[in-house]
Amino acid sequence: METPSRAAPPATPAFDVLVIGSGAAGLTAALALADKVKVGVLAKGGLATGSTAWAQGGIAAVLDAGDTFEQHVHDTMVAGAGLNRRETVEFVIERAPHAIDRLIELGVPFNTDGPEGTGALHLTREGGHSHRRIVHVADATGWAVQQALLKAAEAHPNITLLPGRSCIDLITGRHEMRYSGSGRVWGVYALDEESGHVEAFTARATVLATGGAGRVYQFSTAPRGATGDGIAMAWRAGARVSNMEMMQFHPTCLYNLEVKNFLITEAVRGEGGHLINPRTGKRFMTFYDPERLELAPRDVVARAIDSEIKRFGLDYVHLDISHQPAEFVKEHFPNIHEKLMGLGIDMTREPIPVVPAQHYTCGGVLIDLAGRTDLPGLYAAGECTESGLHGANRLASNSLLECFVFGEAAAADILANWDSFTPPPPVRSWDESRVTDSDEEVVIKQNWTEIRRFMWNYVGIVRTTKRLERAHHRIQMLNGEIEEYYRHFRVSTDLIELRNLLQSAELIVSSALRRHESRGLHYTLDYPGIDAEPMDTVLVP
Ligand code: FAD
Ligand code: SIN
Repeated sequence: METPSRAAPPATPAFDVLVIGSGAAGLTAALALADKVKVGVLAKGGLATGSTAWAQGGIAAVLDAGDTFEQHVHDTMVAGAGLNRRETVEFVIERAPHAIDRLIELGVPFNTDGPEGTGALHLTREGGHSHRRIVHVADATGWAVQQALLKAAEAHPNITLLPGRSCIDLITGRHEMRYSGSGRVWGVYALDEESGHVEAFTARATVLATGGAGRVYQFSTAPRGATGDGIAMAWRAGARVSNMEMMQFHPTCLYNLEVKNFLITEAVRGEGGHLINPRTGKRFMTFYDPERLELAPRDVVARAIDSEIKRFGLDYVHLDISHQPAEFVKEHFPNIHEKLMGLGIDMTREPIPVVPAQHYTCGGVLIDLAGRTDLPGLYAAGECTESGLHGANRLASNSLLECFVFGEAAAADILANWDSFTPPPPVRSWDESRVTDSDEEVVIKQNWTEIRRFMWNYVGIVRTTKRLERAHHRIQMLNGEIEEYYRHFRVSTDLIELRNLLQSAELIVSSALRRHESRGLHYTLDYPGIDAEPMDTVLVP
């Protein structure tokens, strides 16, 4: 029952398919569906507030004559420490050139070797890649991709974009008017951020494309909304999640007391940047990975920086590309150069202070090659998933690629099986009869900060069982408090996110406690060895 003080909610529009998320994965799925069916795209906050718009480096694809799919597959599996599912890796990598062609058709102005869009695509290099294979739009690839996808989606008559909708929970058989215990997903309950009403959006199929859970850590390059909402919603609805302990830390986030979370793209190292210990003045990667140096996979470089910082009591290390010609640096990294100049750092003449920060969620909702989750009617694509592509550590610039490939794969499977998707039954509306407006917003802020702090300190780059158990204990304590708060007060975006943040933290810590080896991004002092057989950490609700 709605509280009488609120106006009646507007009628909920009917869609054939709902897509939750308007980043690379969500909009790719929507565009691939929209020629055949009506699609509603729901997004928390604005339409360009996910990680997609923030991507800097680019998109990995085999496009150079000397490069091969086999080599890209090999690099991906080496970075992923063998935990990748080879079938998925091949599936994604073979579809990369098509994905790039599609983006060019949509108007993404990738850099080329010739002037003003002439010549072959310019390919840059990033850590773990044995070849130049990253297409990019200077150092702001994600922004260009997000704009092109949004422009196409806005122009499509079958796509309705619905920003300002914070999805709360998936609608399943339990929410049907005639209760059914089935896990069939029929859509989602979403908070209208402006009116405060909760609407039930139903459809024949739902695609989750809600991005990662990076904000569970105190320091992260991810945007504010990366709170693991889709992963938590799918888990609560009964879907399995996998490899949540594999949290990627990017080696080079700007160290600045005012500007937090600003990424310095790996392409700076790809174009010759050196990592230097500011105390000794030495290029320290020579001690950690003498062959690959600064272009070793991210887990190796992030651990090396963490070790230097701890051993020497430093606040940061230096990333230096000032030995390259100033024009070269400005041309390749115009946005980073401008941003740093605004902070008084001239990267053409001096080193940049950097520290590692959480960057990417390798684990997530388990999907197959068609983007299907465990739950009938529910698909997922992009960073909220664990598709088998990244394994224990994502290779740089493979994730936007994954969004395009699985966004299309999910759409193709939905359309191919359209006749089997029945129309949604009547479902119950959101019950607000037993909640009131919160009188203690401070609880949300306090808990949010607490979670992010202990996750950073206890579940970071280097782990121990004792620290993980400490984090687990705190999660148990907060669980009761946050659940009680959720039951008594009307939902807000902050509360929805806090609940999901804690759920994500629990999944990460439970997974980390189960892995008794050090592989890829999961590095624990208690189990420094690596098992002979790679095994996924699959959690069953
Ligand atoms: P996102 O783009 O994060 O979009 C998530 C969407 O879900 C948003 O629209 C959001 O509003 C919505 N959403 C979330 N929760 C809810 C909810 N409860 N209700 C409704 N909507 C919700 N990868 C590369 O391959 N190359 C790069 O160069 C690169 N650079 C990066 C740089 C930075 C700084 C960061 C943070 C990441 C980078 N990545 C890069 C990773 C890549 O950007 C992401 O993995 C990818 O963009 C994820 O896309 P997505 O569509 O899955 O999710
Ligand atoms: C970067 O530009 O360093 C980020 C690339 C990525 O996360 O794939």
